[in-house]
Amino acid sequence: MPNAVIVGTQWGDEGKAKVIDYLTDKSDVIIRFQGGSNAGHTVIVGERKYVFHLVPSGVISAGKVCVVGNGVVVDAEQFLAEIDELAAGGVSVDGRLFVSDLAHLALPYHKALDLASESGLGAGKIGTTGRGIGPAYADKVSRAGVRAGDLCDWDVFAAKFRAGFDAARRKTEALYGAKFDLDEGEIIEKYRMVRERMLPFIRDTAFYIFDAERAGKRLLFEGAQGTFLDIDHGTYPYVTSSNTVSGSACAGAGVGPRVIDHCIGIVKAYTTRVGNGPFPTELGNGDADGEELQRVGHEFGSTTGRPRRCGWFDSVMVRKAVQLNGITRLALTKLDVLNGFGEIKICTHYEIGGKRVEQWPSCLHDLEKVVPVYETLPGWKCDISACKKFADLPSNAVRYVERLRELCYGVSALIVSVGPERSQTIEVEPI
Ligand code: GDP
Ligand code: IMO
Ligand code: MG
Repeated sequence: MPNAVIVGTQWGDEGKAKVIDYLTDKSDVIIRFQGGSNAGHTVIVGERKYVFHLVPSGVISAGKVCVVGNGVVVDAEQFLAEIDELAAGGVSVDGRLFVSDLAHLALPYHKALDLASESGLGAGKIGTTGRGIGPAYADKVSRAGVRAGDLCDWDVFAAKFRAGFDAARRKTEALYGAKFDLDEGEIIEKYRMVRERMLPFIRDTAFYIFDAERAGKRLLFEGAQGTFLDIDHGTYPYVTSSNTVSGSACAGAGVGPRVIDHCIGIVKAYTTRVGNGPFPTELGNGDADGEELQRVGHEFGSTTGRPRRCGWFDSVMVRKAVQLNGITRLALTKLDVLNGFGEIKICTHYEIGGKRVEQWPSCLHDLEKVVPVYETLPGWKCDISACKKFADLPSNAVRYVERLRELCYGVSALIVSVGPERSQTIEVEPI
């Protein structure tokens, strides 16, 4: 497969990890380029379920190299916990998992700041994952961050950690009026151990990727979150703190744009969102269809366990995602979740004050006023989870997929996923 970047086209949890795991077979190096342990990426192979927050989802395939790029904010404790879990399950990462020396660390005081900031916002809170993502990126941008490479010299690390810790304490107390009860000495001591274990993974990953690409290795860039959680293009301020769109892969991995041949947009067959912020097609509290989507789709966050808000497919959003990411192929996931519905709705466009709106309104103020307009398609009312070929799908399922494609600039489908397990994947049109 040519080099490709995978992005979520909605608000995250589209099933990116499932598709990445599947495509790992056709790739050599899998690279995370943004986000941090706010991501929850689920891969199911046979009876085994893996949930990754930092380690790339390709890691369970033997012999594949996985890279945590410079654009990621790394919670080193979480990273090591994932490696330990993998090792306990018989998966060794020795010599094939690397962390960029330029990646910033998400430290315990970033988590404390995240929580303090959220409680300071009260009812207006973002609904973050509490993993310290916003504060870690804020430190990076304000040039006060601590990078993985700083771990190479304990004194450098310890000095930067102490400065960051002190600033976080002052901010928590002065800005949010909250108690800051982290024990600096205890954390520093813990990080002596963390450092020892992290050192073998840390290297110049941009050079590694450059070299691998020149040697003909196939690269797969693993996006986290989704297009509408992007710090610029998403539903700001109800977003995460990184660029989640495909362009971010270049800066976040340290590659030029010509390295990436394809952008695969992962599209859930309906829409979900976890956390606060606008959601035009949301089927609110007590709606039977919304509850059915949540129940059948097991729509609970992989990182926080929070229930995901559910709604019908919104083509206005996904059209915008196609534009922003330069999507060349779609991978449609969770089609099987719609098995039981007699009728399925698709939002084709919006109206604001009775006027037709085809394009996603970039301003939250307008977005809050949109009224979604739906068309209704007949369901298929049968189990598609054992289908192996596109031609095996019932005609109403094919019709649904074709209509989604049509509404999304006719981009062709690479994959249709009909269940969480690796083998429940239909290849439609190879790249
Ligand atoms: P990600 O963050 O985009 O990787 O997605 P998550 O792992 O957070 O959430 C997707 C959930 O849907 C996981 O529990 C997957 O196991 C599951 N999943 C993925 N694809 C399918 C599918 O085609 N059908 C069903 N029923 N579940 C799926
Ligand atoms: P994956 O990679 C879904 C959401 C949070 C919150 C907002 C900001 O699994 O698709 P943050 O902790 O990043 O500051 O929270 O972003 N969010 C996600 N929602 N999937 C994710 O990742 C998410 N990562 C962050 O719920 O609304
Ligand atoms: Mg997820």
